[in-house]
Order: sequence, then C-alpha cells, then structure tokens
Amino acid sequence: MTNPGLSSLSRVERLSTGIEALDILLAGGVPRGFLVAVTGEPGTGKTVLCIHFIAQGVKVGDKCIYVTTEEARESIVRQAAQFTIDFKTAIESDKLIIVDALMSTDDPWSLKTLDVEELVNKVVEAKRKLGYGRARLVLDSMSAFWLDKPAMARRYSYYIKKVLSKWDFTILATSQYAVTTSESFGWGIEHVADGILRFRRSVRGGVLRRYILIEKMRHTSHSLNLHEISIVDGKGLVLLGPVVERKEDTVLPRKVAEKILKAKKSREEEIP
Ligand SMILES: Nc1ncnc2c1ncn2[C@@H]1O[C@H](COP(=O)(O)OP(=O)(O)OP(=O)(O)O)[C@@H](O)[C@H]1O
Ligand SMILES: [Mg+2]
Repeated sequence: MTNPGLSSLSRVERLSTGIEALDILLAGGVPRGFLVAVTGEPGTGKTVLCIHFIAQGVKVGDKCIYVTTEEARESIVRQAAQFTIDFKTAIESDKLIIVDALMSTDDPWSLKTLDVEELVNKVVEAKRKLGYGRARLVLDSMSAFWLDKPAMARRYSYYIKKVLSKWDFTILATSQYAVTTSESFGWGIEHVADGILRFRRSVRGGVLRRYILIEKMRHTSHSLNLHEISIVDGKGLVLLGPVVERKEDTVLPRKVAEKILKAKKSREEEIP
C-alpha cells in the first residue's frame, strides 16, 4: 500500500502554459509558485510563450500581470491579437494588468524607472487590485532591471522571488541570452530560478528555425529533448516535434569561440 502522506507530499499542482504540447513535455505544466527563467536570443519566441501563459491564466480565472520592458503595452496587446488572444477585453474586465515599463506615462500601470524595488511594489499593487487568489506574473524582460549592473543579477532575482512568492505568483521571467552577454545575464537568474526554458535558433538550408529545450524544472520528470517550434499567424507557438541535435546547430562560430577563450584567458591571467 502506498503511504498517503507521502503521495500527497509528492503531488504537485501545475499550471498549464497555454500550449498543450508543451504541457505534455512538462508532465502537466509549471508547478504552482515556481519562478521560471525563459531565456534565448532575440526573436526566438520568449514573448510569444509569455502571451500564451497569460492567456491561459485569463481563461482559467488566475489573476494575471504582465510587465513589459522592451515593448509598449499596445505592442503586447497587438501581438496577442495576431494569435486571436483578446487582451483588450481581459484588461477591461480586470482579469489582466499590463505594467508598461517602456512608455512611462501618467498611467498608474507604468513604471517610471527600471528599479527592482519599484517593480516589486507595482506588482504587489496590481495583485491587490486584481484580488485574492492564484496568480500569474510575466516579467518580460527581467534582465532589463539590471542592464547597467549585471553583477546584481543574482541578488535581484533572489529578492524578486522571495518577495513575490508570498503573493501566490507563478512567474515566467525572460532574460536575453547571447554568447556575448551570457555571463552577465544568464547566471543571475538561472540558479535562482526553479525552471529554465531555453529558446534557440539556427539557420539551416537558408531557413530560420527555432527550438525549445527544458533545461531545468524542479519536481518534474520533463522531456530532455530539443523540440523544434514554429510561430504561426493566427495561432502562436506550435511544437513541431523533437529534433536530433546536429553539431552545427549548437556549436559556436569559430570566431566567437576564439573570442570567448581569449577573454577567459586574459581574465585568468589577471588573477595573481
Ligand atoms: N503574426 C505572426 N505570425 C507569424 N510569426 C510571427 C507573428 N508575430 C510574430 N511572429 C514571429 O515571432 C517573432 C518574435 O518572437 P518573440 O517576440 O516571442 O521573440 P523574443 O524571444 O521575445 O525576442 P526579444 O528577446 O527580442 O524580445 C518574430 O520575429 C516573428 O518571426
Ligand atoms: Mg520579447
């Protein structure tokens, strides 16, 4: 007989990402209360995934907050509409608040500065406005808050996680990832995060291809396969299936690899 105490301990409540095929790879979805880092190069699908996640929250009655730093609120609403997701109605019916950190206006839901404390206060204020209950938060992007002080990334990520976990949030936080900036942006958030969804891209046969890989998801028996994705007009993010990874898909261009090696070497030489 199974121990009922143990089975209730091991059970995890999961939130659907809004993309059924991705939920399957995640053994049902993102565990409630998690902070998940969504990383990847520009244009790979991070924002699109966040839009699906919030759309699903609106659908099931979660309190939803979307903080946007690189695009204005209208841009997010328009992008969602292209996938037949109606954020305008969600905002009007108090199911969703989009905090605009790009266009600082007199609007109460805009951020004057990219300050972590101001961000957390605004998110808590938004949660109070939306009311009690399970909540979803998107921070797109989170790395924007320490652009000029990358050394603070880890401390800030930890602070955000610690404060917001008390407010019943499940969080997707995007962070740009490029070979040249990975050290500055990547390692702040990725150890603090409970999960990492990594987007990638490659050009094969002259065509841009995009991929997603679940690099980490605590408490989850998740897929270890790289999956090719597509972003489809009128639909959004679609999973095409697992790929057999080829060396040329992930290997760094020789010049970039040499540059990184050189930078590492010179840093080591500085150590007495
Ligand atoms: N209506 C659409 N139909 C098809 N593809 C689209 C549509 N809208 C956007 N896309 C694709 O999605 C890409 C943008 O993806 P997304 O905004 O999620 O990138 P991102 O990873 O958030 O990038 P960044 O780091 O620059 O914010 C576009 O470059 C385009 O290829
Ligand atoms: Mg984006």
